[in-house]
Amino acid sequence: MDRIEIHKAKSFKGEFSPTPDKSISHRAVIFSSLSQGKSIIKNFLKAEDPFSTVNSFRALGVDIVDKGEVLIVHGSGIYGLKESHDIIDCGNSGTTIRLLSGVLSGNPFFSVLTGDESLRKRPMARVITPLRQMGAEIMARAGDRYPPLAIKGKKLLPIKYQMPVASAQVKSAILLAGLYADGETEIMEPAKSRDHTERILPAFGAVIDVDGLHVRIKGGTELKATEVYVPGDFSSAAFFLIGALLIQDSDITITGVGINPTRTGLLNVLQEMGAEIEISNIKNLSGEPVADIHCRGGADLKAINITKDKIPALIDEFPILCVAATQATGITTIRGAEELRVKESDRIRSMTTELGKMGVEIEEFEDGLSIKGRSSLKGAVVESYGDHRIAMAMAMAGLIADGTTTIHGISSVNISFPGFFQIIRRLTL
Ligand code: S3P
Repeated sequence: MDRIEIHKAKSFKGEFSPTPDKSISHRAVIFSSLSQGKSIIKNFLKAEDPFSTVNSFRALGVDIVDKGEVLIVHGSGIYGLKESHDIIDCGNSGTTIRLLSGVLSGNPFFSVLTGDESLRKRPMARVITPLRQMGAEIMARAGDRYPPLAIKGKKLLPIKYQMPVASAQVKSAILLAGLYADGETEIMEPAKSRDHTERILPAFGAVIDVDGLHVRIKGGTELKATEVYVPGDFSSAAFFLIGALLIQDSDITITGVGINPTRTGLLNVLQEMGAEIEISNIKNLSGEPVADIHCRGGADLKAINITKDKIPALIDEFPILCVAATQATGITTIRGAEELRVKESDRIRSMTTELGKMGVEIEEFEDGLSIKGRSSLKGAVVESYGDHRIAMAMAMAGLIADGTTTIHGISSVNISFPGFFQIIRRLTL
């Protein structure tokens, strides 16, 4: 049965590591596949989304072996991929389809990329426009808007491209295409999006220069195999962090969490709201900062206004941030967040509708929402819309609601966080 019943929790107690980072797991597979030699990926996220990337590269002839503890990738080099015999199914994963479109634009064969019902509604013009400027033959359904994508790759030209939206998927797609261009490709972002590609690619031998919002990559460089350790996913830890702040007698420590500043905007927002969060044991793993995070329950949160400039660094934390806002004193407003409408579900609409069912007063705007805080949540029957982060955010809402909350569509958590409900059970015992 694809549903679960959640009851109010008294406390969240314990120590655990979150699942490995999803964004970095995708990138580790992609860059290893494009390298010459044998790469070893440690702490790879074994979830549906990263396996969409693994299976896509297997379809392109790369030998990827799951050894349990590690993933071994026998890379084919940037010019060694082979045409797939069939369409490539990217499942639910925007990162897979967008980054792959950059890679395949530079490979001289024909590819068709598709995905599930949700992915086939997600915008692709944002990658098609720059990749066409680089010379790729690429087209998509519904006037080049949605997958399937058809690509006939070729030798690419370097471009200088001002991105209209801050998107790490688009930036990474162009950087990957830039590997196949003669000369230097330059990208300017309107705001800093997550920078995992820029941090990891140099370990594979790519020549990348980052200067604020400008990123440049040198084309034609062969990549060399390496070893990558994937840190814990801040975006997974975020659900438990907020759960613990909101459930009275909680005390949790989350170990080995990636705290890359392009990902941890939520920490700054929570601190501004009055939460006390301790960060300790900071170290560096594969170019990424990693730390332990400790917090206690019963936080006295105050509402704040979140503006457009804060969105990229907390983009995936929007659903769980909405849950935190229901318990803050005052009205929290989140604006400039229109990108949330084109995620795995329309997350502005999903959270407005589902928290509304639990009795929260919410006003929806085109680019965000406002939430009246200090609401007593009431258990309800809620939907996930097949969106993993909505399912997980609503589970946390269920833990602070009176009565029973029934969540439909919980299998979506397997997209990024298998074992999510088991951790809840362990922490609430
Ligand atoms: C991701 C980038 C973000 C994020 C997504 C993962 C990535 O998407 O929301 O979950 O791995 O590059 P956008 O690039 O669309 O902002």
